[in-house]
Amino acid sequence: MHHLGSSVSISSLQAVIFDLDGVLVDTARFHDQAWAELGLGLGYVLTETDRHAIKGRSRSDSLEYILEQAGWNDADTSQKSKWLHAKNARYLELVEALTPHDAAPGTLVLLEQLRSEGIKTALGSASQNAIKVLQKIGLETCFDTVVDGTRTTRSKPDPQVFWMAAQDLGCEPGNCAVVEDALAGVQAALEGGFLTIGLGDASVLGAAHRVVQQFSDLSVQGIKAWQLAFNHNKS
Ligand code: BG6
Ligand code: MG
Repeated sequence: MHHLGSSVSISSLQAVIFDLDGVLVDTARFHDQAWAELGLGLGYVLTETDRHAIKGRSRSDSLEYILEQAGWNDADTSQKSKWLHAKNARYLELVEALTPHDAAPGTLVLLEQLRSEGIKTALGSASQNAIKVLQKIGLETCFDTVVDGTRTTRSKPDPQVFWMAAQDLGCEPGNCAVVEDALAGVQAALEGGFLTIGLGDASVLGAAHRVVQQFSDLSVQGIKAWQLAFNHNKS
């Protein structure tokens, strides 16, 4: 391609896969609140450690974790499905108030810039409510593909959700970046072979290749440069 000098490099970034809750919109707090309320009903107060442990995981995996912490070892399937339903009903009540103003500042601009540079975009979320939340914040038509909890069979930290997104887009994981706010999501992206960008607290997400504090710290040029370094470090 370029033979003009060693300073000329081409980024191999082909796609960016975004997590939803806690990345594109601040709904992680609604999941936290709904789980905390459910926990209280079971006589258990969720801790900060619990919140980080369940973040990014499927609804049923999260419930299993909470029941284990709360010492409820003998719940049957029908009781569990009632709790899952109650948690989701409460979450949906909280989500109802979302509007396009709640999309993370800079989302539309970044998605548009990626598109204009020929870089594909995907949503990779564990949520079965992803389409509803995307509609609420006005982003339902903004991605080349959406992989959510209605399509996956394995929950983060399994990389399945991100592999499915890369496959939909026809891209190799090594040429895609993942943006994640949850430890389970960072682990999934690392395991899947993606450039992994953590969004939030570096003391929690430090395993990621890069960590930014807020969505508006992301830029196309920045992600392309990180992708270049990621590929360089592999070779
Ligand atoms: C993830 C959230 O995006 O979706 C988790 O980070 C949540 O906290 C998971 O448990 C499943 O969401 P839902 O909407 O299907 O209950
Ligand atoms: Mg998240």
